[in-house]
Amino acid sequence: MSFDLKGWSTERLQRVEEALSAWVPADAPAGLGEAMRYAVLDGGKRLRPLLVLGAAEAVGGHPQAALRAGCAVELIHAYSLVHDDMPCMDNDILRRGKPTVHVAFGQATALLAGDALQALAFELLAPDDAGIPDRTQARLCRLLAQAAGQAGMAGGQAIDLAAVGRSLTEDELRHMHRLKTGALLQASVMMGAACGEASPAAAAGLETYGRALGLAFQVVDDILDVTADSATLGKTAGKDAAQDKPTYVSLLGLEPARAYALELLGQARSALATTGLPDTRALLALAEMVVHREN
Ligand code: IPE
Ligand code: IPE
Ligand code: MG
Ligand code: MG
Ligand code: MG
Repeated sequence: MSFDLKGWSTERLQRVEEALSAWVPADAPAGLGEAMRYAVLDGGKRLRPLLVLGAAEAVGGHPQAALRAGCAVELIHAYSLVHDDMPCMDNDILRRGKPTVHVAFGQATALLAGDALQALAFELLAPDDAGIPDRTQARLCRLLAQAAGQAGMAGGQAIDLAAVGRSLTEDELRHMHRLKTGALLQASVMMGAACGEASPAAAAGLETYGRALGLAFQVVDDILDVTADSATLGKTAGKDAAQDKPTYVSLLGLEPARAYALELLGQARSALATTGLPDTRALLALAEMVVHREN
């Protein structure tokens, strides 16, 4: 019988939504809280929190640490979207089916909402009273910082902007995608694993799984930008070609890009098989969802 991903996700998504709503403050000064909540709540697939929870469950990790880690990654992701959409970057007006944060609240507030969400992410990882060992807290902070910073998302976004109108080699494109999107997805898996005591084989297998899934995710994002419509995506379709961004579709063509996403899914599946963990069905189903998704 195939794994019921929808059933598995429903309960976990509810926990994540409740926690995000509780932790993103409405009363931040001068309208900042409203913009922060607008950026985070009511939308998004919550793939990153699901990866954290799936990996944490696979290794028998600390549930409260996992919930905090899942929300922290989602806050970094939401902040990255707010800034990615600003006029100085991709200049997008639609995100998660709503006007982008800078359209709704102005550019200065969007900038600050992103800044504040990033800080809040790290605050969530280092609570006083949740019974999470100090070394787990420190490791979660380090993994997230590495994935969000110059060697991860922010560095990848810099490459993305510098690559507009240029053609990249396949190696350069892969590197850009691994940084701007893959790093945070891979970190989600590794943070989940860090909530428990993964064996070296399990940790290595999960890391490889996260690396393949993270790249597959952005390959599919490039494909959907071409094949899906804005209503389905909740963001403006066709932007990559319009802005002359190098993508897997522009480099390889649509069918080879699809084939590459499937190849990466195979790599993710093989990596899970090396972990020796008793139950990785949710992680496998999440990888399948990443590659076969429609938005
Ligand atoms: C979109 O990410 C931005 C990229 C990293 C390509 P998602 O497709 O996960 O966006 P949401 O969170 O579901 O809105
Ligand atoms: C953005 O990649 C990745 C981020 C770090 C936010 P894209 O620019 O392709 O994401 P979308 O297509 O706007 O969601
Ligand atoms: Mg972008
Ligand atoms: Mg964008
Ligand atoms: Mg895109």
